[in-house]
Amino acid sequence: MQKINPRNPLVIKYLFVVLLFSLLFFFLFSLHSPQPKSVTTQPNDDNDLKIRPGYSSYDSYIQKQLNKTLNPKLRQVWTTRDWDRKIQVFSKFFDRLKTEKLLTNESKALCIGARVGQEVQALKRVGVSDSVGIDLVPYPPLVVKGDFHHQPFDDETFDFEFSNVFDHALYPEKFVGEIERTLKPSGVSVLHVALSRRADKYSANDLYSVKPLLRLFKRSELAHVKKVDGFGLDTEVVFRKKKSS
Ligand SMILES: *[C@@H]1O[C@H](CO)[C@@H](O)[C@H](O)[C@H]1NC(C)=O
Ligand SMILES: *[C@@H]1O[C@H](CO)[C@@H](O)[C@H](O)[C@H]1NC(C)=O
Repeated sequence: MQKINPRNPLVIKYLFVVLLFSLLFFFLFSLHSPQPKSVTTQPNDDNDLKIRPGYSSYDSYIQKQLNKTLNPKLRQVWTTRDWDRKIQVFSKFFDRLKTEKLLTNESKALCIGARVGQEVQALKRVGVSDSVGIDLVPYPPLVVKGDFHHQPFDDETFDFEFSNVFDHALYPEKFVGEIERTLKPSGVSVLHVALSRRADKYSANDLYSVKPLLRLFKRSELAHVKKVDGFGLDTEVVFRKKKSS
C-alpha cells in the first residue's frame, strides 16, 4: 500500500478539491437552512391575529369607527350606487347558505356591523323576514344601534349571525364571545374575512389565517371554510354553536 505523503501533489490536489466542495456545500446549505425555530413547541397562532397599535382608549377607537360610519360621502354611496349591487350579491350568498341548510326562512338573523343594512335587506328578500342589523349608528328600520363588543341582546336570541367586519374588532375575543352568547344552541355564525389582503385604515386588527378564529370560537364547532369573493373579503368561515356548553 502506498504511504500517504502530504507532499505528494496528488494528495494535495485531492485535499484541495474536498475543501472546495465542502465550502461550496456549506455555503449552499447556509442559504437554504430555515430560520431558527422558536423554542416553544405550542402552535402559536397569535402571529396570525395582530391588533393594530395606536388606540389610546376605547373612546378614541369608537370615535375612529364613527368617523367612517358617519362619513357623509360613504353613506351616500352605500345608500345609492352600492345599494342594489350589494343586495344582489348578498342575496345570492344567503340563498347558497339556505341550500347548505345553514339558514332558513324561520331563522332569527343578525347582521353585525351592518352600516346601512344591505345584508339585512338581502336576508328579507330571500325570505328570512325576522332579521336585523346592528352598528354604532342606527339606520332604521333595518339597523339598530349597538356595539358588537357589547351586543344589546339577551343570551340565546339568534339562530344565525353574519358579519363582514371582524377586522374592525379591537377586542376579537369579545366580538366572538358576544356572538356565542347571543346565538341559540346549534346557532350558526358566518364570518367573511380577508386573509390574503389587508383591509382598510379603519381596521383594528389584521388576520392572517383561520387559526385564531378556531381558538376564539370556544363554544362552537367549525362547519366550513370557503373561498368567497365578498367585496374585498376572500374567505368565509362558518361555525355552529355547540348544543350544550
Ligand atoms: C374624525 O373626523 C374629524 C373630522 O372629520 C377629525 O377632526 C377627527 O380627528 C377624526 N377622529 C378620529 C379619531 O379619526
Ligand atoms: C322562503 O321565502 C321565500 C321568499 O319569500 C320563498 O320564495 C320560499 O319559497 C320560502 N321557502 C320555504 C322553504 O318556505
